[in-house]
Amino acid sequence: MRTVEWHEGRVRMIDQRKLPWELVVNQYDNYADVAHAITDMVVRGAPAIGAAAAFGMALAAQQFDATNRPELERYLEEAAAVLKSARPTAVNLAWAVDRQLRVVRDESWQRVEDIRKELLRSAQRIADEDVAINQRMASYGAALVEDGMTILHHCNTGALATVDWGTALGVIRTAHEQGKRIHVLLDETRPRLQGARLSAWELEQAGIPFDIIVDGAAGHFMRTGEVDIVFVGSDRTAANGDVANKIGTYGVAVLARENGIPFYPVVPTSTVDLSLASGDEIPIEERSPDEVRSPFNLAIAPEHYPARNPAFDVTPHRYVTGIVTENGIAYPPFDVNLARAVRGELLQPPPGEQWSAPPRAYGEPPAEHTPDEERTIVAPGQRSLFDEMEW
Ligand code: MRU
Repeated sequence: MRTVEWHEGRVRMIDQRKLPWELVVNQYDNYADVAHAITDMVVRGAPAIGAAAAFGMALAAQQFDATNRPELERYLEEAAAVLKSARPTAVNLAWAVDRQLRVVRDESWQRVEDIRKELLRSAQRIADEDVAINQRMASYGAALVEDGMTILHHCNTGALATVDWGTALGVIRTAHEQGKRIHVLLDETRPRLQGARLSAWELEQAGIPFDIIVDGAAGHFMRTGEVDIVFVGSDRTAANGDVANKIGTYGVAVLARENGIPFYPVVPTSTVDLSLASGDEIPIEERSPDEVRSPFNLAIAPEHYPARNPAFDVTPHRYVTGIVTENGIAYPPFDVNLARAVRGELLQPPPGEQWSAPPRAYGEPPAEHTPDEERTIVAPGQRSLFDEMEW
C-alpha cells in the first residue's frame, strides 16, 4: 500500500503517530476527519498531506447526498476551506485542494455523479504523479551522491512524507539502489522526532546504514569532517529560493555553509510558491507548547513552564547550494531557474540521457489518462517500500 490511498470508498492512511512501534492503518469516510488527521499529524509531510486533502475532497463529494450542482459546489467550497486550514505552511495542501476546486468549477461536469467521479480520478492522479515525480527527483539528486559518502538528513522526507518513495530520503534510497555505499546521519528532529522514528524506520526497511543523532550534534559531525552532503525536504519554497522546512533546517544550512558542505533541498515543483517573493511571506505554523514540554506524553518539563513551538523555519537562499526538482537541479539565480522548472522546462537532461533532441517538457498528464478508481500505481521500475509488508 501507499502512505495515503483510496480503498473501497474510503481514504486509508498509515498512522504516523504510532510508528515505529506499531504499523496501524486508519480509514476515513468523512472529509472533516481527514482534516483533523492532517492537523493531528496522523499523516504529515508536504506531499502526503496534499494527497490526503485531495482524497478528502473526493470524500466530501461522496458525503453530499443531494443532486443539485450549485449546492454541491457550495458544499465543496466549504470542505475545501476546512481542509486548507488544517495546516498552514505546506503549500501542497492548498495546491491540491485548489486543483480539486478547478474540477468542481469545470462546467464540463454538470451532473453531481460526474463531479464525484472526476474528483476521485483527479485525487488519484495527484497521488500517482507524486510517486513518479519523486522518482525523477531522486535520479537527479542521486547523481550528486558519490560512493562512500555520509549524508546528513533532517526530519522525515521519505515514503511516509509523500505518497511513496520520498523527496530527500528518496534521493538517498535511489543512491543506495544504484549500489553506492552510503551512510546517513539522521537528525532526530525535536519535538516530534520524525527523524528518529520515521526516517530510521524507513532506512531500516530499505537496509540503508544510519545513525540517529540529536539535533545539536549536526554541527559537531560537520566540523569533524564526517558529513559530505546535506539533503532536506521543503514544505514551501518561495520564488527567490528561500526554503521553509522542519524547524532546525536553517541551523543545519548555516552550519553546512560554515563547514563548506553542500546543502540541497529536494523539492517537487508543487512545493514551490511563485506567488511569494521571499521566505518572509511564508506562514509558519506554531504548534502546541505541550509537544515541547511533554513529547508523546512523556513529561520532560512541568506543564506551567512556558514554551514556544514553531514547526518550521526559513532557510535564506544564500545558504542553498541547489534545489533538486523533478525537472532538474535549480542553481542560482533561483528566481530565474526555479520559475523555469515550475513551467516544466528541463534544467538538465535526466541522468544518463543526452540532449540530442529538444528537451521533453514535463507537464500535466495527457487528457486521456483515466486511472481506475481503486488502482495503486507504482512508477516504472520502482518498488514500493510497503510492497512486501504484512498487514
Ligand atoms: O511537520 P511535518 O512532519 O509535516 O514536516 C515535514 C517536513 O518538514 C518535511 O521535510 C517536508 O514536508 C518535506 S518532505 C517531503
